[in-house]
Amino acid sequence: MPQIKIHGMIDPHTHLRDLDWSHKATFASETKAAIAGGYWAVFDMPNTAPSTIDDARLTDKLARIDRAAHCDWGLYFGASQTDNSAEYERIASRVCGLKIYNNSTTGDLLIESSALRERHYRAWTSNRLIAVHAEGETVANILDLVRKYRQPTHFLHISSEFEIKLLTEAKQDGLPITVGVCPHHLFLSEDDLPTLGPYGMMKPELKRKSDQRALWRAIRLGVVDIIESDHAPHTKAEKEADEPAFGVPGLETTLPLMMQAVKDGRLPLQKACDMVSRNVQRIWRITPLPKTYTVVDTDHTYLVEREKLVTMCGWSPFEGMRVTGKVVEVWIRGHKVYDGERVLSESGFGRNLFGFVA
Ligand code: DOR
Ligand code: ZN
Repeated sequence: MPQIKIHGMIDPHTHLRDLDWSHKATFASETKAAIAGGYWAVFDMPNTAPSTIDDARLTDKLARIDRAAHCDWGLYFGASQTDNSAEYERIASRVCGLKIYNNSTTGDLLIESSALRERHYRAWTSNRLIAVHAEGETVANILDLVRKYRQPTHFLHISSEFEIKLLTEAKQDGLPITVGVCPHHLFLSEDDLPTLGPYGMMKPELKRKSDQRALWRAIRLGVVDIIESDHAPHTKAEKEADEPAFGVPGLETTLPLMMQAVKDGRLPLQKACDMVSRNVQRIWRITPLPKTYTVVDTDHTYLVEREKLVTMCGWSPFEGMRVTGKVVEVWIRGHKVYDGERVLSESGFGRNLFGFVA
């Protein structure tokens, strides 16, 4: 059976929940889902309940995830509306980066004022990067800040042709920026909304087929650096409520969807692997660990089924889709943590890839 090895898969964009949202998912359940999806490590966003916006909450979250995680991990610190930039010096060494929410989504971290965005950019002098949620015209506003402060900035979940155009030009200008794209924007479009209903609702929203084509073109041209899942589990009840929660799970479907794209001739195998491992390591400046890799059977084709998923939410917007590539083994730091059926690492095995808990 044709097997490939991918060294050090990392998903730098996940919402693992837990704390006051443990009914949606837990640090333990979603780090298990990450391993089943082939990942060595996942980075968790700060729009939790409570939000990760001060030293005390960060310290508490670090301690809790440290006790629970089955795979390695990192945490983002969140820029807040109340301007928490005085905390930055104290917390920067323990996090994978600063997250700034510039367009609305789950949580209460939206920053709409350009002046406040700039205060956060000026205050973040750490060598860790800034990751931004920026859609449409907001991308241009953030690019102005990158031009002025030169702080390495990762643009999360880029989803439209317009955004790709702005970012392509900015890269040509030599700005220190990187671009992430999510599988749901690559494999689903607004045409799927009648079928998916609330299960196809996330931020940024599903776009037109022409936007989807622009994303694939940008992958081929090397404008897109990485594939990130934006794994955002919500319960079925929350998705079926009058005002559905935004977000979809993705940790267990990202790799097989990308392997299917390779099989369909949409991108080379090496590029698909790099976009979920080496490129992520380069951007977050992580040295890959020895004996940390994923073995994938690239011949295995199957349909996505909710019954097989490990994520606590128990559904996927990709259900019924044909995918390729079965994760056969995952190894972390010389330990076999997945045998193709079961997660073998204990709660608490996972380590913070960014500094120490203290
Ligand atoms: O759809 C989304 N859900 N987009 C985000 O940016 C956040 C996420 C969540 O936390 O549910
Ligand atoms: Zn997100």
